Amino acid sequence: MQHKWWHGKTAYQIYPKSFCDTNGDGIGDLRGVISKLDYLRELGVELVWLSPVYRSPLADQGYDISDYYSIDARFGTMADMDELIEKARERGISIVMDLVVNHCSDEHEWFRKACEDPEGEYGQFFYIRDWHEGEPFPCNWRSYFGGPCWDLLPGHTDKIYFHAFHKKQPDLNWENPALRREIYKMINWWLDKGLGGFRIDAIINIKKLLPFCDLPADRDDGLCDIRAMLKRAEGLNVFLDEMAEASFRKYDAFSVGEVFNEKTEDLPKIIGDRGCFSSMFDFSEHLLGLDRRGWHRSRLPTAEEYKRAAFAAQARSAGVGFLSNIIENHDEPRGVSHYLPEGERSDAAKKLLGGLNFLLRGLPFLYQGQEIGMENRTDWTLKDFDDISTLDQYKVALRAGCTEEEALAAVSRFSRDNARTPFQWDAGPGAGFTAGAPWLGLNENYREINLAEQRGREGSVYEFYRSLITLRKSADYGETLVYGECVPYLPEQKNLMAYFRRGEKTLLVAGNFQAEAQDMLLPSPARTLVLNNLDELSAERDTVHLKPWQLVVFEL
Ligand code: GLC
Repeated sequence: MQHKWWHGKTAYQIYPKSFCDTNGDGIGDLRGVISKLDYLRELGVELVWLSPVYRSPLADQGYDISDYYSIDARFGTMADMDELIEKARERGISIVMDLVVNHCSDEHEWFRKACEDPEGEYGQFFYIRDWHEGEPFPCNWRSYFGGPCWDLLPGHTDKIYFHAFHKKQPDLNWENPALRREIYKMINWWLDKGLGGFRIDAIINIKKLLPFCDLPADRDDGLCDIRAMLKRAEGLNVFLDEMAEASFRKYDAFSVGEVFNEKTEDLPKIIGDRGCFSSMFDFSEHLLGLDRRGWHRSRLPTAEEYKRAAFAAQARSAGVGFLSNIIENHDEPRGVSHYLPEGERSDAAKKLLGGLNFLLRGLPFLYQGQEIGMENRTDWTLKDFDDISTLDQYKVALRAGCTEEEALAAVSRFSRDNARTPFQWDAGPGAGFTAGAPWLGLNENYREINLAEQRGREGSVYEFYRSLITLRKSADYGETLVYGECVPYLPEQKNLMAYFRRGEKTLLVAGNFQAEAQDMLLPSPARTLVLNNLDELSAERDTVHLKPWQLVVFEL
């Protein structure tokens, strides 16, 4: 495997709307991100992915872009963006933007022109079909946010357009070379500004199964999960390769794909040396327990399932490329609330989960607030939610026969808004996030869980994450943690998640993923205790007595 400039880094995702608000409108902004660059440097991250800040009606929080070449006024100006890129660079931080090109906003000029003249140049940028009241749609696929993928084309009664997500997110027609050229031009325009690269949104959806056709329905709405068509559509890689060649490769840019359900044999084409992306997220843990029928049927994963999924992903990517490892992002509940059982979200357990994930082979990505152990909100009421998929899932649960309480409980557990509550900087008003009224309610635990309380306090979750990042960069263990292979140790021992990292040195990472103590045999004598999430360690000869939620790293 070729070595790349980004391999040794630690990445960090910012959700700008909820990060830091400098003008008191309750919405985080780019000046807020700039004001926290020194903080990010202190934490040690060197690659920062910004969720979208382009001009957008924010129907899906910026994942509905109405102008790829402008910054939305709520987030700031292009001058702010340029300043952010430059000031980040001075601090050794590369900025990565979100690339949302499966769809744009229905308020994008392309779509407006397509509505004006569906047969014209811009009509070909979308999937527009003739349709008459009472006729079936060209296919019965269910959009990710609920309902059919088809809606009437604004201004028409006999034409419809395709949207895989919300109806305000019309899909772009990648079969059209003119559209693809526009996209590559735009990517390069941004890379010319000195961006480090892109996180590529929802990209597996750009290749459709054409011509559109019905697939077997999987709910009583007569529709079929759109993911069923993705399994059958062929040729995604042709588009992705063309895009990489026309943009990322020329700049040696970093790119990380939002890729789900890939086939193992396709991994080299995605993240290998000549892959279309630098990396892709490992979502295998996130998919555990999710039920296609909806959040009301989904359940939280167990420690054993988590371990098996993580090891399987490690095995698939070994010798191929780097996965990007996460415990959460802006589309998921908080990792500590999802993977740790109720009542067990102690600092020790949070560090165990974070450490086990961070030390795997691949590129560690932290999501804002993870470094202080932010949790799901537990006091949601329906009117607190903003996210469109949460509101859809609530309806799905009611339709399936849940009571309002059950539906609320289900969406509270899985809502994307759990990750989107504002960053908890301090215990003051607005949690230090805003001087105004936050756009999404704060998690009330901000008085206890906040950066000011943890910064500089020995033993805090924050200081633990800093030590993880320091370790990844250290002269002693950096090479091993970045490039060393990852080999499971005692994978059959229940609720023990342990693995070797074997490079220049050999490290053993071992976590007791449960609320009871357990013993672990050492494979060979330990030379050094490199990391411990508790103050003490009890061991004799070849046995380590791991306390509940204890995580240790030994050099062997
Ligand atoms: C991706 C984004 C998500 C968004 C969707 C549609 O999954 O991460 O936030 O809603 O794409 O763009």
